[in-house]
Formats: sequence, C-alpha cells, structure tokens
Amino acid sequence: MTQTVYLGLDLGTSGLRGLLIDGSGSVLASAEAEYEVSRPLQGWSEQDPADWLTALDQVMVALQEAAPKAMTGVQGIGVAGHMHGAVLLDQAGDVLRPCILWNDTRAHAEAAELDTIDPVRAVSGNIVFPGFTAPKLMWVHRNEPDIFEAIEKVLLPAAYLNFYLTGAYVGDLSDAAGTSWLDTGARNWSDTMLAASGMHHTQMPRLVEGSEPAASLRDALANKWSLPKGIIVAGGAGDNAAAACGVGALNEGDGFVSLGTSGVVLAARDHYAPDPATAVHTFCHAVPGRWYQMGVILAATDCLNWLSRQIGQNPASLTDALGDDLGPPVSLQFLPYLSGERTPHNDSQIRGAFVGLDVAHIPHDLTRAVLQGVSFALADSLDALTATGADLQRLIAIGGGSDSEHWLQMLATVLNLPIDVPEKGEFGAAMGAARLAICAATGANPDTVMTKPTIAQTIMPNADLTDAYAKRRETWAKIYPALKDLS
Ligand code: XUL
Repeated sequence: MTQTVYLGLDLGTSGLRGLLIDGSGSVLASAEAEYEVSRPLQGWSEQDPADWLTALDQVMVALQEAAPKAMTGVQGIGVAGHMHGAVLLDQAGDVLRPCILWNDTRAHAEAAELDTIDPVRAVSGNIVFPGFTAPKLMWVHRNEPDIFEAIEKVLLPAAYLNFYLTGAYVGDLSDAAGTSWLDTGARNWSDTMLAASGMHHTQMPRLVEGSEPAASLRDALANKWSLPKGIIVAGGAGDNAAAACGVGALNEGDGFVSLGTSGVVLAARDHYAPDPATAVHTFCHAVPGRWYQMGVILAATDCLNWLSRQIGQNPASLTDALGDDLGPPVSLQFLPYLSGERTPHNDSQIRGAFVGLDVAHIPHDLTRAVLQGVSFALADSLDALTATGADLQRLIAIGGGSDSEHWLQMLATVLNLPIDVPEKGEFGAAMGAARLAICAATGANPDTVMTKPTIAQTIMPNADLTDAYAKRRETWAKIYPALKDLS
C-alpha cells in the first residue's frame, strides 16, 4: 500500500524549503534552495517571483531524488510564505514587477497617511506599518502608474505559490491579515479598507482558512514532478502563523520566540483582542476561530549576518566563540534597527548604532553587543504583548539563531522567562505548512494534528544576572529617543 504523505513548502526570505512528512508527522525528506534579496535603494527590498519558482523546481527535483517512493504518496501540499509582500499580476496572470517585501520601507509616507484614516486601525486591528501591503500599492499608484493600471490581482507570496500550483486565486486569512485590507475580527476582506488605498475586492484572491482546501495541484505540475493527480493544496499561511502550527502554538498561553531574519515574539489567542497603539500585530491564525498576536523586530539574525559579513567570519563561529557561560551584560550597546523598526516604535527611518565603542573592543565584544541589543528589542515586543493581555509563562525557541545556546541563555535572562528548546528536528514554518496540508486533505481537527514538539532542554533565566541585564536594558532604552531625530 502506498504511504500517505504531505508536503510543506516554506517560501522564506533567503530560500525555499520543502518538507515531506507522513500522516503521523514524521519527517521523510527535506530540501532547500536559496535566492537573493535585491536592495536597489536604501529601504528597498525586493525579490523576483520567478526566482521562487526556480527554487521550487530545484526543491521538487531534490525531494524526488531523495524520496521517490514517498513522492508517489503525496496527498496534500501546504505553503507558508514571508508575509506582506505584494506580487502584482496582470490579466494574463503574469508578474508586473518584482515583489516588494515585508522589510521594504519605501512606502512609509503612504503608511503614515493610511494609518490616520478612520476606521483603518479599528477594522484591521493593526497600525498600518510601511511593510504592510496596502501602503505598497499606494506607492505603486503614485510612482509606477502604468503598472498600477495593469493590476488584475494582488497576491501575497504564499498565495502566489498557491496560484502557480493550482491556477486558482486563493489566499489564506492569516496572511491576508497583514495587508491592512482585512476586517481581522470578521475574517473577511473589508471594502472600506480596500477603497481607502484605491483597491477593489475583485483584485483580491478568494479567502479560505489556512487549514481548509484551496484547490488542486495542476495536472501539468503533477506530471512534471511525478506526483499523483488531484493533490489538495491547503489555504496555507503567513510564515509566523505556520511556525505557530509547527510548534503547536494554537491556544491561549502558547507562544514562541523566533530568531530568524526578523525577530518575533508570538502569542496564540483564542479571542480577538487588538491593541494597535502598542504596535503589536493582531492577525487571524491559520486555523478557524483563533487569532495570534506578535511583536516583530525587522532584523534579528539579520544583525548577526550583517556583523559576520563585516568581520569576515560566519555567524555560527561568531556565536560559538562566546562559549557556554553567559556572563554579565556588556557595556557596549547595539541598536538593532538596521532596517527600521516595528514593535514598539513603528519607525521606518531609524537605523542601527553601536554606542560606547572603545579602542579596546574586539569582534567578540561586537558579537555580544549585537546579541544583547536584539534580545533587548525582543523584550520590548514581549512587554507590548503582555500589555494586550497575553499571558506567556514560557516560550519555545525557533529560528536559525536558536542554535546558539549562549544567545538563548541571554534571551531567557533578558525576557525573564524559561525558554524551551525542541529536540533537533523540524518544527518551523515548513512543518506548520505540512500540517495544514494534513488538515486540508483529510479534514482532521487542527488541535490533534498540531501537537507540541518534544523539548530537549529548558533554558531558565540566570537568576544571578537578571537584575544586571534589566539595568543594562534601562540604559539601552534611552538610546532610541536620543537617536530618533538624528537618523
Ligand atoms: C511579520 C513579518 C516577518 C516576515 C518574515 O509581520 O513581516 O516576520 O513574515 O518572514
């Protein structure tokens, strides 16, 4: 009998990951292909969707080579994607310009304008951040009017992959909530919100819950990749909602801290409790009847990657050099706002800084300062979440940065929360996407599919150092107001 298999695809900022799992969630094979971010001007961040399709093809070929038998049993596909990006399509379904990404801040003036219109915050439940989709469309309208006129559909990155896979325009609610066009409480497009930025609901994809079926895989692709015909493609999810599905963070009290390109502290919520004033993001979850809230910093491992490029050593060797013991906070301070900031400042113009550089400082000090600055910024996000009523007593750590135990010790101490580290394995957005595929293809209840990972170790706050880090954070918090008008 053919084994029943599900495929999760995670369209990340630096590459696309494919993960094959069986019906019980065990990993059968995985593959990854990378692509670049293009930054033509300061504050701009773009990708050509054609690069995603090339990466997808490479991943499918690699999975076929690694697990040919499993591929014949695929019953469902789920796609997770980096959020907020605008893929603009013409009448023929062709891409009109490169996708403007989540960390692109060119539309800051348009975002500020839209943010003041009543009832934009009340309906969307969120500040209109420059990286969100609606202000990007206003920017295109003003700066590339010919392209704007030709727009037939606007798709988020995951919905664009859904379209490529199925030929249908279908998006999911968790991702749609990051556009500023959604009535996030009612879980539907809002005509008022669309009109506020010159758009119309006919330009939007049909919406489904992430765990519901969207459409079926095109026969041409099934043939090309030697997959069965009629595979169900799920609604899918924005990458943070998918990661929450991957670690089983569906219910009140569940949450994670993600050290990825961006940094996220996320809390699952069983009710809709927006609080835009705190710069917390309030989005639909990828499963029905649930929401999640998160604080987002635009650069987490991106800061470490930046430092590693300057010093000429890879990020892992920089963090490994710090050893196992945390030690007291460093006096050198780092403001991690290399791409501007969202939570809590909502300031796309601010940029990063080292404060207190000394002639004696060596790369080791710079690395510690970078990890410390990112940890302090994540503590700001946790405080903002707590202010909305989210009660997080512990967090699961995910993302590439969580490979550094030193960083996790620092984070646990700065956040003053235990941090659970899952056993080595898959529990990120690709796993969440594959789990959404199980739900969509079988109708299974998400609560039974999206279980929590086995925890390998819990990193407790270092009680001898929490006060010292809290004091250091107080000083750090004075840097932003001081630099705000200088950037
Ligand atoms: C969330 C956000 C980022 C991207 C990156 O609002 O912009 O976390 O989803 O993947």
